[in-house]
Formats: sequence, C-alpha cells, structure tokens
Amino acid sequence: MSIFLDKEFNALLSENYKSAILLAAKAADDFGIQIFLIGGIVRDLLLDNSIKDIDIAVQGDAVKFADFLAKKFSCKVIAVQENLRTTKVEFPSGVIIDFASTRQEKYEKSGVLPIAYNFGCNLEEDVKRRDFTINTLALGLNKSQMYELIDFCGGYVDIINKKIRILHKKSFIDDPSRIVRALKFKIRFGFDIDNNTYNLMQNYLSDVDNLMPLERIKNELYQYFNIKDKKVYSYLIETNAYKLLCDNPLTNVDFERLKTDFIKNLFNKDDLWVIYMSLLLINSNYSVQRLNLTSYEQKIINEVKFLYSNTRNILTDNFEIYSVYGKINIISLVIYYLITGNNSVKKYITELKDIKVLINGNDLISLGFMPSEKFGGYFEKILKEKLNGKLKTKAEELEFIKKEEKK
Ligand code: CTP
Repeated sequence: MSIFLDKEFNALLSENYKSAILLAAKAADDFGIQIFLIGGIVRDLLLDNSIKDIDIAVQGDAVKFADFLAKKFSCKVIAVQENLRTTKVEFPSGVIIDFASTRQEKYEKSGVLPIAYNFGCNLEEDVKRRDFTINTLALGLNKSQMYELIDFCGGYVDIINKKIRILHKKSFIDDPSRIVRALKFKIRFGFDIDNNTYNLMQNYLSDVDNLMPLERIKNELYQYFNIKDKKVYSYLIETNAYKLLCDNPLTNVDFERLKTDFIKNLFNKDDLWVIYMSLLLINSNYSVQRLNLTSYEQKIINEVKFLYSNTRNILTDNFEIYSVYGKINIISLVIYYLITGNNSVKKYITELKDIKVLINGNDLISLGFMPSEKFGGYFEKILKEKLNGKLKTKAEELEFIKKEEKK
C-alpha cells in the first residue's frame, strides 16, 4: 500500500519552501529527471517536527539540473561542490535548497570521509550508504509519484516503532560519528536504539582506535550537546560513547549547580559545548590534538585543568582568591564550580569580581608623589583593603595612601 505525505507536506512546510519545492518538481519533469525529498526532512515530516533544512536527491547530475532550474525559473546557483556533484540553489523567494546527485560511498579507513562513486545511481543504491533506516526515506516529487513515500529499508515501520537501526553491521566501523548520531536521535526524538544496533555500537566502543581523526565526531557532538536535555552528558557516559574521544571523563556531575542563581546568567547555550567538553577532557590521557579544538576551547579546558589540579583546597584569603580567579575566564570558573561546588568561586563571583582600585597614577602625582615603582605597591595595598570591605570611595583610597606614607 502506498503512503502519500501531501497533508504533512502542506501542514509543516512554509509557503516559501512549498513553492520552491514545487518549482523544482516542475523543472525535474521538464528536464526529464527524478528528484526526491530525502533524509531528515522526510523523517521530520512523518514525526510532525518543524523543518530546518531541505535536501533534495537528484537521480542524475544535480549540478546540470540546478543550471537548468536556474535558467528556467530565475533561481540562482549559489554553491557547487564539484567532487560530490552537489549544489545549493536560491529560489526567487530567497529560500535555499540543497540538491545532491545520488551516489554510492565506500570507506577505505574507519572514521575518514568516504569515497563517493557511481553518481546518478538509483535512489535505492543511494539510500543504502546512509546511517539509520529512519534517515533513508524519500518522498517522490515528480508528477508520476508526487508526495509518495519511498521506503527501501523499512524506515517507515522504524519511525512508527520509534527505533534507531543501522543498515549494515560495518556502519559504526565505517563512520563512528554515527554512534553520536544515534544518541542524538534517541534523545531528540525519545526513540530507542535497536538491540542489534546497540550491541554493534558496544562492540566498536570496546576497542576504539584512539588515533582516529575526530573532525566528524566533533561536529556531531556539538549538535548533541546543544540538545536541551539534562541527560545528554550522563547518556554519553552510560553508553560508553565517551570512549570515542577520551578515556577518563568526570562522572557524577551535579548539573543542578548550573541553575544556581549566581551562575546561571554567566553562560549561554553556546558555552554548553565547552562545558561538556571540559568535563570529558580534563582527566583524559588521550591527545586532544585530533579534536582540532579552537584556541578558545583549548584555553578554557587548560584553565579548568589548572584549577582542578592546583586549587582543590578552598582558598580563604580574599586577595588570593581575587589574584588567582581574576586571571581566569569566567566560563572556566563556571565549569570549575560545576565540578566542585567550590565556595571560594562563589565568593569571587558574587562579592569580589567587580572590585577595582579607583585611583590611578595621576591621582598619586597630584598628591605630590614622584612616579616610581612604589606605585604598584600602593595599588596592591588599596586593593587588599577593598577586598576586605574597606575603602569604598576614591577619597578614602587617597586618605589611606596619605596615612600609609606617613607610617
Ligand atoms: N548521514 C549519514 N551518516 C552520517 C551523516 C549523515 O548517513 N554520518 C546521512 C543521513 O541519511 C542523513 C543525511 O546524510 O539523513 C543528511 O545528514 P544531516 O543533515 O547531518 O542529517 P539529518 O538527518 O538531516 O539530521 P539533522 O536533523 O540533525 O540535521
């Protein structure tokens, strides 16, 4: 029995997307080529999810088809990836759609990008290179099969049964980033990972090659850690998926601490990534070089490592707290607090962080002091007083220096 998704198509896509897709469908019939909505969008139509981006598979050459589309319907080809025969097309309404030539892929080495071949192959051959059955569904767009669901791998039943299932037993060996994708889809959709898929995942994780490049995994982890769900970190630990990038993650982290009033406004959604990465990496013996961290990410992780290994005892002296923590990024302090609940961090953030000496060198010169190295010492003395709750105003600071000088 054929399934048609015209209702979902009309209900979930914006008018601009709908008209762009219908334009592409018309062009495909005119050009004499088969095109299909493919992958995530079809899955999301079936799940009633909002649609983020649109992928169209072209059973033929997507680049030639995009040129035809552009000429015929005033669209603009805005990018072409020659080696994969994929292209991005901007429609008159401004929406952008990706068109990819159907292709097969083979993996010469685990974790590296696959080699693409047989461009323009049958749709069935194309979907078999993909990760999970739920991502293999296609939706016909040509007149002959408009809105018809095309299911070569049992993806429809798996969506109904909420199952994440790989297509063949080498899938995780070919592309270990699919392990993180499985977790991503599980948490995002509340699906279960099929038993056989889960066992194959565990097989892979029991003997991870820790020299494998991590570019793709990093990209998937970034998306995974951005899912708003408090289980994301613990689930990565429970399923052993952390083994893809580290050997000794911090566990039993009390994430409720991130909701503490004084800390919750100090970070935003983008920082969650670096927060989680720090928890995974601060104790790890694996090289982080393969992760290609940005200098910012590297800095934060190094700072957290430093705090974690050097300041485990609670600092009590305000000047010491200020001097140590004042040199550290606030996000590193947030992470350190998350790990330890350390009260001196709380004190620094809530009481000490914004304290500054108000006078400057010119004020001292006005008092009749000759510029000298002693200035630094004066400022430090003032700071120490202020950190202990004294010298609120500039006048009080000046008075303090005068008295000091007389001593
Ligand atoms: N894909 C794959 N293996 C990967 C990444 C992607 O087989 N490691 C395939 C999947 O079929 C997927 C398609 O490529 O549907 C497009 O990838 P992507 O845009 O990352 O996936 P989506 O399924 O659209 O996921 P998301 O909703 O998170 O964007």
